[in-house]
Amino acid sequence: MNLPASTRAAPIGIFDSGLGGLSVLRAVRALLPAERLVYVADSRYAPYGQRDDDFIADRTLAIGEWLVAQGAKALVVACNTATAQSIEFVRARLPIPLVGVEPGIKPAALLSRSRVAGVLATQVTLRSARFQALIERHAADLRVLSQPGHGLVEAVERCDVDSPDLVQLLRGYVEPMLDAGADTLVLGCTHYPFLDAAIRSIVGERMTLVDTSVAIARQLERVLDQHGLRADALASGSESPEARFCSTSDGAHLRTLAAALLGIEAQVERVSIPSRRTRELASL
Ligand code: DGL
Repeated sequence: MNLPASTRAAPIGIFDSGLGGLSVLRAVRALLPAERLVYVADSRYAPYGQRDDDFIADRTLAIGEWLVAQGAKALVVACNTATAQSIEFVRARLPIPLVGVEPGIKPAALLSRSRVAGVLATQVTLRSARFQALIERHAADLRVLSQPGHGLVEAVERCDVDSPDLVQLLRGYVEPMLDAGADTLVLGCTHYPFLDAAIRSIVGERMTLVDTSVAIARQLERVLDQHGLRADALASGSESPEARFCSTSDGAHLRTLAAALLGIEAQVERVSIPSRRTRELASL
């Protein structure tokens, strides 16, 4: 049963520690063109991969509550790190459905012929109980080589997706995987799909890269349908509604990346979303 038209027309909130969730936003726009989207980049506090668990849960809840106050009908936590650390905690406290993201271990287990797969993700994601459970559930017969992608989120946040230094950093992460026989590489952080070309320049056709953004968009579609929240289809010939982009820092990088990756000239609003932990930081 569908909810009233005004509820169905409400926006979907998409949130990441920074710019990485734009890879998810791109997939959501392609699959669900009639939906209104509000994107929040918590760039002031990125990267989350270096934060403690409580900080990540505190920020995820505060941003989720802010998006609910903006009228969001559903929330995509487009950050593996925030999902791994806090999705159950936040889901129990918000009145709207949530969709999280997690490294594509299941598709990697289906795709790998050599039965060796690499996973690049943040340290927080890799040490989480959720990630260990994912491996036990889907990849019992797969050798999984977990590699923290130190420095990669920072590079994307600087809009560096192809400098020689970055390619060198990536080489140090993926060449040992190739040497160990990996034929599949899971991009376990939503920032990493933007490094696709740089990774390809190193691994060529020797590895299949697993990016779950399209699967997340499909999961969102299912959740909207389950809750009767799907927006009405666009009238023929009409354009997708413009997404609203918000950043907790100055937003210049969000603007640059949105132009480069999505081909849109985004107006980025600077927003302030205080939380318990950031108030504590401010009072030090
Ligand atoms: N895009 C986030 C993720 O998927 C990056 C986390 C971070 O800020 O370290 O994990």
